[in-house]
Amino acid sequence: MHSKKNYYLTTPIYYPSGDPHIGHCYTTLACDVVARYKRMQGFDVMFLTGTDEHGQKIEKKALEKGVTPKEYVDVYVSNFKRLWARLGITYDRFIRTTDDYHVESVQKIFKQLYDKGYIYKGEYKGQYCTPCESFWTESQVVDGKCPDCGREVVEAREEAYFFRLSDFSERLEKLLTDPEKGFLEPQSRVNEMVNNFIKPGLEDLCVSRTSFSWGIPVTFDEKHVVYVWIDALSNYITALGYMNKSFSDYDKYWPADIHVMAKEIIRFHSMIWPAMLMALDLPLPKKIYGHGWITFSGTKMGKSTGNVVDPFILADRYGVDALRYHLLREMLFGMDCPFTNEMMLNRINSDLANDLGNLVSRTVAMVTKYFGGTLPEARESKPEDDELIRMTAVLKPFVEENYESFHISAAIT
Ligand code: MSP
Repeated sequence: MHSKKNYYLTTPIYYPSGDPHIGHCYTTLACDVVARYKRMQGFDVMFLTGTDEHGQKIEKKALEKGVTPKEYVDVYVSNFKRLWARLGITYDRFIRTTDDYHVESVQKIFKQLYDKGYIYKGEYKGQYCTPCESFWTESQVVDGKCPDCGREVVEAREEAYFFRLSDFSERLEKLLTDPEKGFLEPQSRVNEMVNNFIKPGLEDLCVSRTSFSWGIPVTFDEKHVVYVWIDALSNYITALGYMNKSFSDYDKYWPADIHVMAKEIIRFHSMIWPAMLMALDLPLPKKIYGHGWITFSGTKMGKSTGNVVDPFILADRYGVDALRYHLLREMLFGMDCPFTNEMMLNRINSDLANDLGNLVSRTVAMVTKYFGGTLPEARESKPEDDELIRMTAVLKPFVEENYESFHISAAIT
């Protein structure tokens, strides 16, 4: 039997705590383009996306609204799905962390890590940023503020389970700095991870909470729920059927070819996730790719800052293809990129209407005028064709290489 080559790529699973904006679109579009490209090359592609639905923040928001957390997230999850349909996203699977199979698998993963001695009970005392659901060490907090979002952190103390992340420092440093592997792209992020997190000493990670209940219960200690990152990161294997019977794709697709995300969650993907997999004795993903941010008025576009642009409006006004084109062309590998309506309009006018539009209309006009509206037979090439033939020959591998490495803007150019 002919067996196809497999390719597994993932977006982060997004928080359904509000509506999606063009920041979420960028990651998902980039994955969509590469998924389509890989399918065209004959790969059997698994393109996974989904939603990360547990945690204190969502519990709080639901309470404020007077609905259950599940009712609360259902609304936003359907908005994410509606957007992906509108933008022509060709994902193969959509995981919700509230799906039964995921819950079952996470409980088993947590228990397994506990049985192996990688999870232990202790007391957590730390600086906690509620909106980001992140604990920070004293050295990471900037003037009493969260280094990610700049808001106040509070000291939090409670009985909690911990994951022995500190045990993995050496192996993680080796993984990240191995030039052969190229595990983390862009390379510039490697130094940041090693110097800011590994060298100062990785601390064990708090992986359960008792102060809220909207999460996956720890089976052997029910007042605890699994704290978000173990729950969230596991999605990349539970969605394939790891530790559950809903799917049987784990052997086929794992390890993933690439996990794609923006830079603020690289540290979770390049340290906690590989450490979890090492503890479970599972193979590691081949690559983590962290792109830059879409910014608006100089800061990261985000729900929490409220400076978001609605992709539905842009798609209605300018068309889905123009929106897809603009975001993918404008955003350069690894860099931040501002969004303005003016930039988008210029891009549409110059690239799509003037360059591409004129090329098509002139070609069609000349074919009509000189060849009666049909394409002439190809003739023997003449010396003046040589340059064009040479250019075309080098273009193919160049474009391929750029798609491979998510340099999508370069591939488009
Ligand atoms: N739930 C976690 C991820 C868990 S993955 C195991 C999370 N969710 S999120 O809703 O905040 O999504 C963050 C991701 O959305 C970013 O990493 C990026 O992929 C995308 N983006 C959100 N805002 C963005 C920009 N302003 N610019 C570019 N990408 C953005 O973090």
